[in-house]
Amino acid sequence: MTDLSLGGSAPAEADDGAWLACVECGATLAPFDGVVYRCPDCDGLLEARYADYPTFDDFSGEGVWRYAESLPFESGVSIQEGNTPLYEAPKIEAEAGVADLRVKHEGMNPTGSFKDRGMTVGVRVADELGVGRLACASTGNTSAALAAYGARADTPVLVLLPAGKVAAGKVAQAALHGARICEVDGNFDDCLDVVAELADRGEAYLLNSLNPFRLEGQKTIAFEMLEQSVAAHGEWPDRIVLPVGNAGNTAALYKAFRELVAAGEMEAGEMPTLTGVQAAGAAPMVEAVEAGADHVERWDDVETRATAIRIGNPVNAPKALPGIYDTGGTAVAVSDDQITDAQRMLAEDGIGVEPASAASVAGLLELRERGEVGPDERVVCLTTGHLLKDPDAAAEAGGDTTAVPADADGVLDAL
Ligand code: F0G
Repeated sequence: MTDLSLGGSAPAEADDGAWLACVECGATLAPFDGVVYRCPDCDGLLEARYADYPTFDDFSGEGVWRYAESLPFESGVSIQEGNTPLYEAPKIEAEAGVADLRVKHEGMNPTGSFKDRGMTVGVRVADELGVGRLACASTGNTSAALAAYGARADTPVLVLLPAGKVAAGKVAQAALHGARICEVDGNFDDCLDVVAELADRGEAYLLNSLNPFRLEGQKTIAFEMLEQSVAAHGEWPDRIVLPVGNAGNTAALYKAFRELVAAGEMEAGEMPTLTGVQAAGAAPMVEAVEAGADHVERWDDVETRATAIRIGNPVNAPKALPGIYDTGGTAVAVSDDQITDAQRMLAEDGIGVEPASAASVAGLLELRERGEVGPDERVVCLTTGHLLKDPDAAAEAGGDTTAVPADADGVLDAL
C-alpha cells in the first residue's frame, strides 16, 4: 500500500530536519549517510521528507533556489535554472475552448528542458555524498542537463542513450559539455536497467528520476506555476496537462501539492487536476489509469516520433498514479500526428517546443473533444523541452524552403 502522507515528527535518521522515506513500507533512512536509490527493505521508491513544509511567504529570490526552504540545501550547482515563462496562448485557448489556457514553457531552462531543475539539486547532493562519477540513462534531455551540470561541478559524466533514437540537439549538448556517451543497442528502459546496475555496483551516482532528490528540484515547477497563475489572474489553475515518460514530473507536481497541503497553504480538494499524456505507441500509464490500476505493466516495444517519451516502463508510476487519482485527473494517449499538429499550433502562438512537449496540448484537445475537460476550466499545459532539441522533427513539421537566385526580382518571382 503506497504511503504518501507527509507530516509527523522527524525520525532519528533525520539530518537537519530532512530524511528519506520508502513510499511502500514507510521505512525511514538517513538522507546523506550513503548512496541509496530504493528502499533496502522492500525495494520501494524513496521520497524526501522534511520536519517542516514552507508557505509561499517563506520563498524569496528567483528560479529553483527561490524555493530553497522546500529543498534539502540552501543553494546548489546553478546555471540559473527555473523562472520559466507562463505564456498566454490565445490561438490554442480558442481552439480548445477553455476559460483560460497558459503554457508553462520549461524549454526556456538553461539546457532547454525541465531536467535542469532536477540537476541543480541532484548534483548538489552528489557533491555532498562525494561521488566520483555521475550517470544517467536518457532519451536525451536528461543527458544534456547532466552533462552541463556535471561539467559545472567538475565531475565526470557517463550517459547511456538508446542508439539512433535520440534527437540531434540533445546528443550535441551532451557531447559538447564533455559527457562520455555510450549508445546502447536497446531502448531507454534497457539503458536504465544497465545504468541502475552500474550504480548498484558503486560505479556511478545515478541521476535519473528514480533519484528522489531530482524530483525535489522538479517540484519547483509547481510552486512557480502556482505563483505565476496568481500573479496573472488571481487564481490557481484547475488542471495541469503534462507529457508523461517516466512520470517523474507527475510525481513531483503531486509532491509539491501535498507539501502545500501539509503547510496549510492548500486544501486537499484544491489540488489542480493532474492530467498525463502519452504517445499512443508508448502508453503504459494510460493503460494503467484506464484500468484503475495501482501499478503499470511494462511495454517492451515502444515507438513514437516524440522520442523523449519513448518509454515503456515509467519508474515513478507508484508515486504518480496516486497523484492522478487523488486530484481527480486522468491520462490520455495521442497519436504522433496529433502531436505534430499540436506542435504546429504552439508554433503559431510563437512557442517553439519539441514533439514530447506538444503532447500536452494534443492531450488537452483530445480530452476537450471527448468532453472530459470542461469549457469553464483554467488549464496550464506543461511544455517540457525546446524546439531546437529536435531540429529534424521541427523541420519536418514546418514549411518547405524555396531555392531562389541571388537577386531581389528572383526572390519576388518565387513568392
Ligand atoms: N518531456 C520531455 C521533453 C522529456 O525529455 C521527458 C523525459 C518527458 C517529457 C517525460 O518526463 O519522465 O518526468 O514523465 N525525458 C527523460 C530523458 C526520460 O532521458 O531526457 P517524465
